[in-house]
Amino acid sequence: MKHYLDRFEALLGLTPIKPITLDVQGEPRTIHLKLEGYNLTGSIKARTAYGLVRGLVRDGRIRPGVRLLESTSGNLGVALASMARFLDIGFTAVLDPMSTAEVRSRLTDLGATIVMVDEVDEAGGYLLSRLAKVQEMLRADDGYVWVDQYNSPENPDIHRRMTGPEILDQLPAAPDALFAAVSTGGTFAGISQCFRERALATRMVAVDVNGSVAYGGQPGRRYLSGIGASRPSSFLKAGLIDHYAYVDVGEAAHYCRTVLKETGIHLGASSGAVVAACVRYLGEHPDVQDALCICADGGEKYESTVYSDSWMTSIGALPRQA
Ligand SMILES: Cc1ncc(COP(=O)(O)O)c(C=O)c1O
Repeated sequence: MKHYLDRFEALLGLTPIKPITLDVQGEPRTIHLKLEGYNLTGSIKARTAYGLVRGLVRDGRIRPGVRLLESTSGNLGVALASMARFLDIGFTAVLDPMSTAEVRSRLTDLGATIVMVDEVDEAGGYLLSRLAKVQEMLRADDGYVWVDQYNSPENPDIHRRMTGPEILDQLPAAPDALFAAVSTGGTFAGISQCFRERALATRMVAVDVNGSVAYGGQPGRRYLSGIGASRPSSFLKAGLIDHYAYVDVGEAAHYCRTVLKETGIHLGASSGAVVAACVRYLGEHPDVQDALCICADGGEKYESTVYSDSWMTSIGALPRQA
């Protein structure tokens, strides 16, 4: 098992950082994008899945015949399904209607079992319904091992040990500000811990969507997968955050489309939100020069959402022209 884990780790990461130019209050500004769509399994969650599963193997929780179980909005599911294949164990993903058809068919192709929940929870999302389903399945069958991305310390830790140092190795100097989307908060918290441990002055900006309660706030209906949460993150601590930005669907879609049109780079929805928050922050903080956006995945899976006018109209959020 260890050999396979080492092999998986060797294939992870080293995703490119690309500079792009965007208009910020009438001025062209350079923004660096770390493109995690180029990661193994197509998203930053390949790193998270690796960290989580490695912890379970280390703790002796992966025995022959067990099945991994996780509540996931998509990307972590795809990454876990790939790892489960690699390690020759089963994987069941608990999904909700916000996951795209593309993700569902990818999971099925990878041999995962899908369990759907369709009840909106009291916080306006599906996370609480998904977690209730996980608990029900764990009670009914002791062959399941819950990966638990929302609480496992391995989630932020892999970003502290891998993603953060990788960013710093790739850039000539630490950026003035770093922007990352928040769902479990693991990616942001881990990178921020790495930067704080090295006493870097980088301003750490967490990016969330309206309606998320990942870090306080009022619960509301959310439409984007991958960003936001129906319950508070266990990883986001005040000392790790310099600024917390909220973005709406229209802004996220606008920047997905603008970046595609102006640079040919196809970003996922949460990355559009991150770029939107970055442009706003640069406009409000003229002293910030070097900005880095963590772009968690690419745009292929979002053709039927943020890149679709009819979807935008259906949720009452017409995008501005890119
Ligand atoms: C597309 C996308 N962006 C951002 C995130 C946020 O990552 P985290 O759960 O580490 O906060 C996720 C997590 O699922 C994601 O899939």
